[in-house]
Amino acid sequence: MFSPSLLKKFQSVQTPFYYYDTPLLLNTLKTAKRSADKYEIELHYALKANSNKKILKLIKGTGFGADCVSGNEVKRALECGFKADKIVFAGVGKSDEEIRFAIKKNIFCFNCESIDELKVINDIAKSEKKTASIALRINPNVNANTHKYITTGLEENKFGINLWELESALSVIKKSSHLKLIGLHFHVGSQITDLTVFKTLCIKVNEIMEWFSNRTIFIENINLGGGLGVDYYNPDKNPIADFETYCSLFRKFLKVEPGQKLHLEPGRAIVAQCGSLIAKVLFVKKGVQTNFIILDAGMTELIRPALYQSYHKIENLTGAKRKESCKYDVTGPICESSDCFGKAVDMSETKRGDLIVIRTTGAYAESMSLDYNLRDRAKAYLAEDL
Ligand code: LLP
Repeated sequence: MFSPSLLKKFQSVQTPFYYYDTPLLLNTLKTAKRSADKYEIELHYALKANSNKKILKLIKGTGFGADCVSGNEVKRALECGFKADKIVFAGVGKSDEEIRFAIKKNIFCFNCESIDELKVINDIAKSEKKTASIALRINPNVNANTHKYITTGLEENKFGINLWELESALSVIKKSSHLKLIGLHFHVGSQITDLTVFKTLCIKVNEIMEWFSNRTIFIENINLGGGLGVDYYNPDKNPIADFETYCSLFRKFLKVEPGQKLHLEPGRAIVAQCGSLIAKVLFVKKGVQTNFIILDAGMTELIRPALYQSYHKIENLTGAKRKESCKYDVTGPICESSDCFGKAVDMSETKRGDLIVIRTTGAYAESMSLDYNLRDRAKAYLAEDL
C-alpha cells in the first residue's frame, strides 16, 4: 500500500498525522468529472467532507463548484479560487451575518431549508439592494438506507421544506421582491451504497417537478445533493467510487425538460479513499478478554467510529511481517470509552512504537477534528509535502 521509501518518510514525521495520496485524489477527480461531463451534470464539491486548502485547490482546478454549509466555508471556497457563481450555500441554520456575506459575494444559490429562512434572505437581500437566487431544499421523504445519524431525507429529519409546505413556500416567494427561485435541491443522506436509493429519489423528484410544472413554474436547476458511498472494507480493491453508474442513474430516471440543468454535491466519494490517518502505538495492554492497542490518535482526529460506529480498515505498517497475529481492540488516548477505532481487530503482533494506518480517512476526519482534552491538532501532508 505504501512504498518502503514513503514508510521511511512517515517514520520521521510527528504522529498522528493525516496523509493524502495526491495521485489517487487526482485520479478520483478526473473520473468523477469525466462521468459528470458525459451526463451533463455540474459538480459542487461538499467542503464539509474535507476543507484542507491544498485539497480544495486541486478540486477547484478540476472544474468543480463548491457546496458550503457555513459562512466560513463560503469564505474558504472563495479563498481557494472557487468562483462565486459556482458556490451553493445550504444549511438549516444560516445566521444573518452568513447570509449577508454570501449575498454580498453574489454566490450562485442559497439552498433554503425553511419558510422563515426565505423571509430573512429576502429582507437581507433587500437591504443590500440585491436579488438572491434561491433553490428550495425539499425533504422528499426518501429513506437512504444508511446510518440514522446521516439520514437526512425523511420527514422526521430537520432538513429541508416538507412537501405539504410547498404551497406556502411558493406564496412567500411570490411576495418576495428580492428572491429569485432558480432551482430545487434534495439531499437524502450520506454513505449510500445501495444505489437504488437514488432511483427512488429520481421518481420522487419527477412527481415534485410535475407539481411545479402544473403551476407553470419552470425549474431551471435540479440539485440532487451528495451521498455516494465508498468501500470502507476494501479500499485497495475499490479506491474510486462508481461515478459512472451514479451519474448515469440521474440521466436515466429523471425526467429532465429542455433547458433544465442537473447538479450533484459529492463530498465523501471525492476525498475519502485518498486519506490515511497515521498513528503510533503508545502502549499494548493486556485486558481480560482482549488486548488493547493504545494509539496516539484518538476520536479527536477521527470521530466517525465513536459517533456512527463506522468501520475503518486498520493495518500495522511497521510490524506487518511479524508472523504471529492477534486480536486487538484498537483505541485512542482520550478519556472516553467510545474512543475506540475497532474491536477485536485481526492484526500482526503489535509492539510499542509501531506505525498504524487507519484507512479511508480523507472524508469527515480532519474536517471533524476536535481539540478535546486540549490536544494539539494533527498536521496534514499531501504526497508531495513529504
Ligand atoms: N450536500 C448536502 C446538503 C449535505 O448535507 C451533504 C452531507 C453532502 C452534500 C455531501 O454528502 P456526501 O457526498 O459526503 O455523502 N459526518 C458524516 C457525514 C455527514 C454528511 C452530512 N451531509 C460521516 O462521517 O459519515
